[in-house]
Amino acid sequence: MTRKITILDLKKMKDEGEKITMITAYDFCFAKIFSDAGIDIILVGDSAANVVCGMDSTLPITMDEMIFLSRAVARAKPDALIVGDMPFMSYHTSVDEAVANAGRFIKEGFAETVKLEGGQNVKEKIMAMTDMDIPVMGHIGLTPQSVHKMGGYKVQGKDDVSRKKLLNDAKAVEEAGAFAVVLEAVPSDLAKEITESIDIPTIGIGAGIDCDGQVLVMHDILGLTFGKRPKFVKEYVNLKETIENTVKEFIDEVHDEKFPTDKHIYS
Ligand code: KIV
Repeated sequence: MTRKITILDLKKMKDEGEKITMITAYDFCFAKIFSDAGIDIILVGDSAANVVCGMDSTLPITMDEMIFLSRAVARAKPDALIVGDMPFMSYHTSVDEAVANAGRFIKEGFAETVKLEGGQNVKEKIMAMTDMDIPVMGHIGLTPQSVHKMGGYKVQGKDDVSRKKLLNDAKAVEEAGAFAVVLEAVPSDLAKEITESIDIPTIGIGAGIDCDGQVLVMHDILGLTFGKRPKFVKEYVNLKETIENTVKEFIDEVHDEKFPTDKHIYS
């Protein structure tokens, strides 16, 4: 029996030590498959910029583009909780604009919650969204939208100052009212310390086994990425090869006049 996952279920899962699973999806088809497989959370990630749109970073993707993807995911009516990932500059100016854009995700994108990157620096915005009944997932550690400030996609929290900052970021996100927080590319002992020091679930990506849950980008799990993969990625299947071979078979059958057969035509 499947059931619609809510933010209350996620808290209960943390409290009861049941691991939470999250995966990205950007369209109807994959959202349906992942939800039917039993995933807890579907993130309409701004990683769509890279894996769907072929952009070099997540920075160029817009609110309108994210809403288009979120609507497609929502049409799958997943049992999984839908999280809409707020793109760069959709929550960086005023609190009012941040809340308005989060509201667009719910009202136009049919997401149920939103995610944004940052810790103490976005506390006020998380608070304002939560006050307006929009549940927020935080995202700290390696925050891809800060790539230029970080000087690249680097593991965070490696020295004492940066560890302390991340602990404070996690607490700030929790105090602001977030229902969960993504920990990306942080040392596993720090992720464990953060997980034990806050009451909301931590969802790790490159943050070790002790997080309350794990998230990966769907293209990475399915072997659909091009170029260098981060260390934290596990490719569970190489669909790229399967798809390429399947399309080659189609091309060959068309060339050899083996497709369509009598089974595939109207008389
Ligand atoms: O956009 C995304 O896919 C993400 C995950 C890596 C957490 O933010």
